Amino acid sequence: MLQKDLLCLKDLAKEDIQALLDRGSEIRDLLDSGKKDFDTLKGKNITTLFYENSTRTMTSFSNAGKFLGATVSNLAVASSSVKKGESLIDTGETLDALKTDLIVIRHSVAGAPKFLAENVKAHVVNAGDGLHAHPSQALLDMLTMQRYFGKIEGLNVAIVGDIKHSRVARSNIYGLTTMGAKVKLFSPYTLRATGIEKMGNVEICDTLTDAIQDADVIMGLRIQLERQQQGLFPSLSEYFKYYGVKESDIKNLKKQPIIMHPGPVNRDVELSSGVIDGSNSHILDQVSNGLSIRMAILEAMLKEN
Ligand code: CP
Repeated sequence: MLQKDLLCLKDLAKEDIQALLDRGSEIRDLLDSGKKDFDTLKGKNITTLFYENSTRTMTSFSNAGKFLGATVSNLAVASSSVKKGESLIDTGETLDALKTDLIVIRHSVAGAPKFLAENVKAHVVNAGDGLHAHPSQALLDMLTMQRYFGKIEGLNVAIVGDIKHSRVARSNIYGLTTMGAKVKLFSPYTLRATGIEKMGNVEICDTLTDAIQDADVIMGLRIQLERQQQGLFPSLSEYFKYYGVKESDIKNLKKQPIIMHPGPVNRDVELSSGVIDGSNSHILDQVSNGLSIRMAILEAMLKEN
């Protein structure tokens, strides 16, 4: 049983996470067989409220709601009354008055979804807030691993890149360690996150080789240039040379890991184009699993039995 809101994975018990992954996997099979019309959420309204850019998360939540039979409103923040100075609470109360049942929010400020949730009747799902959390991304990442390996417990997952500014890394570390995976982190020293190793079964590595040598999964992270102070690394080309994952880094590993990345990916910065487009890449599989897991989340939060 989920709570009123999904703000971070700490809102979910281990068995809730497993139930969402199992339902997400069933939905993925149904979607792959061509089914797009479910009527589980007929009569419900979902509003997406994105104060930051998005392709995958907004489109997949929007499609997820429509495929489940709900009506979906995508509030275009740039052309909304937010631009006239309307506050977050006033926007939320307006959506309550318009009878929305669930708001999917992305915001640059950590804690904004919690603040909204405390002030509206509608359910609230966090679609990414500042450096804090991106719970549906971690769920879709875990779904991708579960579908490929059949389990998450015992997997070795290397998360590589801009750990410091990554809400994806934080949500994945929490989710993966809760589900029994072991996580290794590698980033430039200036992009490490102080204290992150205390989140669970997490090891900080000094070299890419240490991080990936026994990895089942390599997860690249986007360089979050929009959140960085200047000067955390010399240049994108040097970042790629010293920290990017290339075919040469993985071709001689004893076992071939799957390659993941939340997107959008900066080609030949975080991962080489050969790795992105190679046979081990599950980046587009992640996108498809994003639709499935978001359908499972919306169903769990809104379905009336
Ligand atoms: N991974 C992710 O959140 O992608 P978008 O920014 O395109 O939603």
